[in-house]
Amino acid sequence: MTGSESTFGVSTHKGILMALDEVNKAGGVKGKKIQLKNYDDQGQASEAVTIVTKLITQDKVSLLLGEVASSRSIAAGAVAQQYKVPMVSPSSTNPKVTQVGDYIFRVCFIDPFQGSVMARFAINNLKLKKAAVFRDIKADYSVGLANFFVDEYKKMGGEVVADVSYASGDMDFKSQLTSIKGKNPDVLFVPGYYTEVGLVARQARELGLKAVLLGGDGWDSEKLTEIGGDAVVGGYFSNHYSHEDQSPVVQNFVAQFKARYGEVPSGLAAQGYDAAMVAVDAMKRASELSPKAFREALAQTKNFQGVTGMITINEERNAVKPAVVLKVVGPQKFSYVTTINP
Ligand code: PHE
Repeated sequence: MTGSESTFGVSTHKGILMALDEVNKAGGVKGKKIQLKNYDDQGQASEAVTIVTKLITQDKVSLLLGEVASSRSIAAGAVAQQYKVPMVSPSSTNPKVTQVGDYIFRVCFIDPFQGSVMARFAINNLKLKKAAVFRDIKADYSVGLANFFVDEYKKMGGEVVADVSYASGDMDFKSQLTSIKGKNPDVLFVPGYYTEVGLVARQARELGLKAVLLGGDGWDSEKLTEIGGDAVVGGYFSNHYSHEDQSPVVQNFVAQFKARYGEVPSGLAAQGYDAAMVAVDAMKRASELSPKAFREALAQTKNFQGVTGMITINEERNAVKPAVVLKVVGPQKFSYVTTINP
């Protein structure tokens, strides 16, 4: 809820609250209302571990929703697994998250797919075959996504002319960007989180770097354009859903969310809503109200109609879903470009 990725937590929380209010209004699960405990890990993996331990041992929760950023989900997931309390991450996409163990699930696609989506988009849609990659070495998400992008891009005949890194919290990217500029790439793939991406974009343009900017779901924040200004406009990123999707499920969700919060729901809000609804669906199907029974039921999730698409939990406890590509067109405006299927 705070820290340099604060909008991820705030946005996700809004989606979760809306879902649980809806469920409780309709009578809850097996005659019981769901109680939500929410703590802020300040964007720190160590704090996520502390909080999950507290949620399990003191608050005695029977199911966990979170985290968003993969490094935090990996750290917190180890605690959930140790105590055998199921955890459902709304939107952590690094493969390692659910590999922590059989109590860890997610309702989003994973980064080998997301990376290939942006590589395919660059080559097939933009016809741009010379890429530079600028990754955050402190985030599992960023490192993984960069690797998966590079693999697919090269496989498709693209050339990666530069592959350099920064660390979360950095504010000056000029030396790396200068070396990237010297390689003259057509696209610059920055699979980081919005705070650094905004600054990277600004400094890249200041240095005269003209490459098309590309990224992943980590760009999905109303703060992206606040920080990056005009420099991020024209960039493209992959995401979990588009609020412009005309299907009734999406439009109904968007209308409800707008009425409640006075804003358009981000992909994170939609994923938060879906994570809570998938959890509730599993609780309803569970043989009893226990973490173990919830785990069994979660693993059986099939064809659950979410806002972000049809959700089936596979053997690896991941969801296989299409991705959308969005274009940054102006302040807080991301418009739908295309859908890419697995
Ligand atoms: N996928 C990112 C991660 O795994 C988190 C994220 C999800 C960020 C959705 C923004 C939107 O770290």
